[in-house]
Amino acid sequence: MNRYEQLINMALEARVMAYTPYSHFKVGAALLAKNGIVYKGCNVENASYPATNCAERTAVFSAVAEGQKEFEAIAIVGGAENAEELDFCPPCGICRQVLREFCVPEKFEVIVAKSATEYKVFTLEQLLPESFGPENLA
Ligand code: THU
Repeated sequence: MNRYEQLINMALEARVMAYTPYSHFKVGAALLAKNGIVYKGCNVENASYPATNCAERTAVFSAVAEGQKEFEAIAIVGGAENAEELDFCPPCGICRQVLREFCVPEKFEVIVAKSATEYKVFTLEQLLPESFGPENLA
């Protein structure tokens, strides 16, 4: 199993925990920190819809809460809860910006997967070109 497949499998595990009583669209993410630890996240919805948190941000916030602030890659899987197979689930714009805060955009890999063997790999720079980040405030 290559490193992408390992991370995708962890995202699939994370997806099981998604709390989605409103959209029934379940997303899982697995975020690889520079120290080798993987942080999982799922989407957590809310009766007040805008309070919903995406899977990717759940993973980032969980990692930061554990003291990790440098990341190398994230795998993302998502789809309707009753879907027979998953489609590609690219990260939303807010999650792209949140990831941008804690990575080197040209190096950070975003693995968007349908399954452990069917996936696309992008850099964050590809998904969020000409981005605004901490350096702009320095
Ligand atoms: N969602 C994610 O968790 N990540 C994304 O990148 C796209 C959308 C969630 C939010 C909401 O719970 C559901 O998918 C439908 O938008």
